[in-house]
Amino acid sequence: MRTKRYFEEDIAEAAQLIQDGEIVAFPTDTVYGLGADAGNEAAVRKIFKAKGRPDDRALTVLIADKQAIHKYAIDIPEEALLLAEKFWPGALTIVLNKQNNLATSVTGQLNTVGLRMPNNSLALRFIEECGVPLAAPSANLTGRPSPTTADHVLEDLDGKISGVIDGGESPDGIESTVLDLSNPEKPLILRPGGVTQAEIEERIGKQVLTLKQTFEKEKQNKHYEPTIPLYIVESAWSDAIQQMLQKEEKIGLLANEEIISQYEDQVSEVYSLGKKDDRTLANKHFFKALRVLEQSSATVILAEGGTSQEFSEAYINRLLKAANGKVI
Ligand code: TXA
Ligand code: MG
Repeated sequence: MRTKRYFEEDIAEAAQLIQDGEIVAFPTDTVYGLGADAGNEAAVRKIFKAKGRPDDRALTVLIADKQAIHKYAIDIPEEALLLAEKFWPGALTIVLNKQNNLATSVTGQLNTVGLRMPNNSLALRFIEECGVPLAAPSANLTGRPSPTTADHVLEDLDGKISGVIDGGESPDGIESTVLDLSNPEKPLILRPGGVTQAEIEERIGKQVLTLKQTFEKEKQNKHYEPTIPLYIVESAWSDAIQQMLQKEEKIGLLANEEIISQYEDQVSEVYSLGKKDDRTLANKHFFKALRVLEQSSATVILAEGGTSQEFSEAYINRLLKAANGKVI
């Protein structure tokens, strides 16, 4: 299959592919999504096949207006409406009890569906033009860093999907927060993202829990891993660098500017996460940095660690998964 690159002016053509049961990637505010008509079983299956995704991992559904929540969910609690009002369009996926009007494989055996309205005008116009809700997971191969540009999508999926709409770089760079509200008595964050636990709690006036993944479970489900090993540096930088050099590794440094300026003479590649006291760029650049460094001369990535207060819950979550337990 030839994967065609589309631009803003080609939205109608790309939407026609979706209506014909094909799969097309497109930009969103968070990361690029891989879309299929969520009502078309055969089309949805193509997503699982192209990504190599296990079929028990539900796909989220992207909608173009807030009211569509009523079309695909039932028993919608007040909290969901309050959150949609405040954070849609935006980086919040809300898991609710589902109506049975989407293809079964979108959510597998689950009784719930994850819904999100993305904050990206191109994505919204595309969904509208398709005229159907889009099942749309991130447009990467399962286990790889999520894509924040059309080129990243093609790195993973060229020849496996019908097209990608190139809308430039995704501004957030990290996926949405996934909040399970199927039991409104116990709101649960399944994945931290752009909208924080504190923001959700403030909006609904209720305590929210965050799912704690056990390390063993994480090991089975590989996530976000670059093709070269990534180590989180917890020992002294000079020691970590010496250890890698002794093993004749070529180091790719992923850290703040101060660390980079101190050690750049000893490493092969650097990717700056910005200034130490300004972490706003870390979310936006993390996945991109992994793809840039894996394609550079580096044979190993040494990444700066930290706390979720210093960076963000979402950032630390992705960093831990990408390292898959490797700490030095
Ligand atoms: O920002 C995002 O959320 C991006 C953009 C493209 O919208 N999408 C994304 O989709 O990250 P995906 O499929 O890569 O991750 C969605 C996560 C998965 O971990 C999935 O298991 C979970 O949400 N999820 C989806 N539907 C669910 C449901 N009904 N119940 C529980 N978890 C669900
Ligand atoms: Mg994903």
